Amino acid sequence: MLRKPWAKVPVWLLSLLPACWLAWRAWNNDLTANPIEYITHFTGDWTIRFVVITLAITPLRKLLKLPDLIKFRRLVGLFAFFYGTLHFLTWFALDKFFDTHEILGDFVKRRFITMGLLAFLSMLPLAVTSTTGWIRRLGGKRWQRLHKLIYVTGIAAVIHYYWLVKSDIRLPLLYGTLVGLLLLYRIVAASLARKKTPAPKRAAQAGGDARPQGSASIR
Ligand code: HEM
Repeated sequence: MLRKPWAKVPVWLLSLLPACWLAWRAWNNDLTANPIEYITHFTGDWTIRFVVITLAITPLRKLLKLPDLIKFRRLVGLFAFFYGTLHFLTWFALDKFFDTHEILGDFVKRRFITMGLLAFLSMLPLAVTSTTGWIRRLGGKRWQRLHKLIYVTGIAAVIHYYWLVKSDIRLPLLYGTLVGLLLLYRIVAASLARKKTPAPKRAAQAGGDARPQGSASIR
């Protein structure tokens, strides 16, 4: 089923559901007594969920022996960026109303804002270079190295969340555990692969002949 040409359609529809739900509530004037806060929290929650799902695709395709899952990684990663952009714009345009004085004040007063910005900015080069043209331009090895930035996104997103909650740290801890496990999986998988690959082949790969697996993606 994953190989069918229409297989991405349900992923598109599911990924758009939260945005449609938000638009529906906005249309019905049903965004609670504090709409800006509601939108900020809603988009923040969906950004971190999509970041975690993006990070989970590679481990899942290996553990479940479903190599075709790879073709959804770019799509899911771009949806993480989409919700991240909505989240950032809610703060920048609706909350701060483009007021540079207020914005700079927020950076100084609230360290979680700086960490959020780091998480968001680390997604920018991934989104820009997610096309096949950019893979060709950068070369597989360099492209893969650049796309390791998604780990920075995951870690910064968890710290952002952890720093902003006031008392109940259960959710930031849950996301922290998930991101930690997904990173650990990659470290273990990479060290096992290194042990299996003979040194001359590794040197040849370091020379830049490795191609990213599957299509362009935020990894
Ligand atoms: C990858 C990037 C980001 C992720 C994953 C993320 C995630 C989150 C999450 C999960 C929440 C809490 C939602 C809840 O409590 O239900 C949140 C809240 C928030 N985020 Fe982000 N965020 C990101 C980037 C940013 C950026 C760039 C800014 C602004 C510069 C920002 C500003 C805020 C603010 C103002 C809140 C609400 C804080 C409060 O309740 O006092 N975030 N974010």
